[in-house]
Amino acid sequence: MQEYDLIIKGGTIATASDTFDADIGIRDGTIVTLGKDLGKAKRVIDADGQLILPGGIDAHCHIEQESSTKIMTADDFYSGSVSAAFGGNTTFIPFAAQHRGQSLREVVKIAHERAGPKSVIDYAFHLIISDANENVLGQELPALIQEGYTSFKVYLTYEMLKISDRQMLDVLSVARTYGAMTMVHAENDDVISWISDRLLMRGNTAPKFHAIAHAEIAESEASRRAIDLARLVDAELLIVHVSAPEAAEAILKARNNGIPIYGETCPQYLFLTKDDLDRNGMEGAMFCCSPPPRDKSGQEAIWRGLKNGTFQVFSSDHAPYRYDESGKLKNGPNASFKKIANGVPGLEVRMPLLFSEGVGKGRLTLNEFVALTSTNAAKIYGLHPRKGTIAIGSDADLAIWDPDWERTITQSIMHDNMDYTPYEGMKVKGWPRIVINQGRVVVENEELQVVRGSGSFLDRAPKFTEPRGFGAGTPLSPERSFDADIS
Ligand code: URP
Ligand code: ZN
Ligand code: ZN
Repeated sequence: MQEYDLIIKGGTIATASDTFDADIGIRDGTIVTLGKDLGKAKRVIDADGQLILPGGIDAHCHIEQESSTKIMTADDFYSGSVSAAFGGNTTFIPFAAQHRGQSLREVVKIAHERAGPKSVIDYAFHLIISDANENVLGQELPALIQEGYTSFKVYLTYEMLKISDRQMLDVLSVARTYGAMTMVHAENDDVISWISDRLLMRGNTAPKFHAIAHAEIAESEASRRAIDLARLVDAELLIVHVSAPEAAEAILKARNNGIPIYGETCPQYLFLTKDDLDRNGMEGAMFCCSPPPRDKSGQEAIWRGLKNGTFQVFSSDHAPYRYDESGKLKNGPNASFKKIANGVPGLEVRMPLLFSEGVGKGRLTLNEFVALTSTNAAKIYGLHPRKGTIAIGSDADLAIWDPDWERTITQSIMHDNMDYTPYEGMKVKGWPRIVINQGRVVVENEELQVVRGSGSFLDRAPKFTEPRGFGAGTPLSPERSFDADIS
């Protein structure tokens, strides 16, 4: 029998559907055998007492990305991918972000130039579309989808990113035709700016007012609207970083009606509240993200959503802006909440936090944890079954997870390029001991084991090979007859 490159022996494997004891035989970066007494290998890892999980997939993170207000994230593809790996991830999907006036081709080229020489784990890109012009919608986007850039984010808020409802329909319609997934940042821009103006007029500039300006209604209204726009053109839609309970309810309602709407939430909505934005002086700036964390009952609603099928994806939305003049305080030490870079870091703690507080405290099963942190993202973003599971033929992407390892989160144990973590001081039980990506041991003995640039770009494919008109495969409802090839 041919020797394996690596055998992982004695652990308990958990996938999104099953938990079982088996050894894993790996050859050429792929899982080739699951069983017992596998024979010889160049290396055998003893995983007795450990869980073997599919490597995490962080499907929402901002890495080496310039914000629309020209602030560069603190993490590049090296520090970002190293941090992700230490948190149990073997794939991440950052954004290739279009700024108005840029071609999508150009942003994809830049993203590859940035990631290729640096990433230590596998990666793909979502596009960000801020300039939904005729060339983008008619030429670039269809071509890029067919080349495998099959997911893109649009914004309903932020001055330099937002698109109109009409443009949203255009984007959704292209996604529907070519088989891609639209992700939406759903907040009502007019509501936010109307409240903000009133706050600022009265001199209410402190970080805590960010949470008031980004009202729950701004999020729930925009979420409901986005769902309805997707329904109109029969397109799939994923609402990212959901924090408002009513937005979560709208997603669940749509899903229960069989509408292909997906939801994502993030650690900041489980572990932070709006009170964190009211810390001493400007310290609240460290917790300003959009949408903002809500209150305790909002946190509970988000936990429920992880259990009841509202959310399929649990991502970090890692948006690393340091608490200094390069990031959060770029507009001065007393900048108003409108001028504070939005976003919090979380790549490295996403999985440990959810494991500890979710699985450890009985809120989630181990299999639900795997689905939320890996498998569902692989399925939704066209990486499954290569990624997101432990099966014969899948990439050997594994987190050997010590369920009893207790650590206190503190910035000094993080591997990102940040100067703070919003979760400072939290005690967490359950961390990855060894992280393996395509058979390569990336993290072991609390040390990085690979060189920069050793991760791979992941090819994806659209959901179908030929563009589809409306009504293809499904009977047309009258309100969708506007675009059908019928006379
Ligand atoms: O506040 C956030 N979430 N910043 C990152 C950018 C985004 O909208 O996801
Ligand atoms: Zn967003
Ligand atoms: Zn984001």
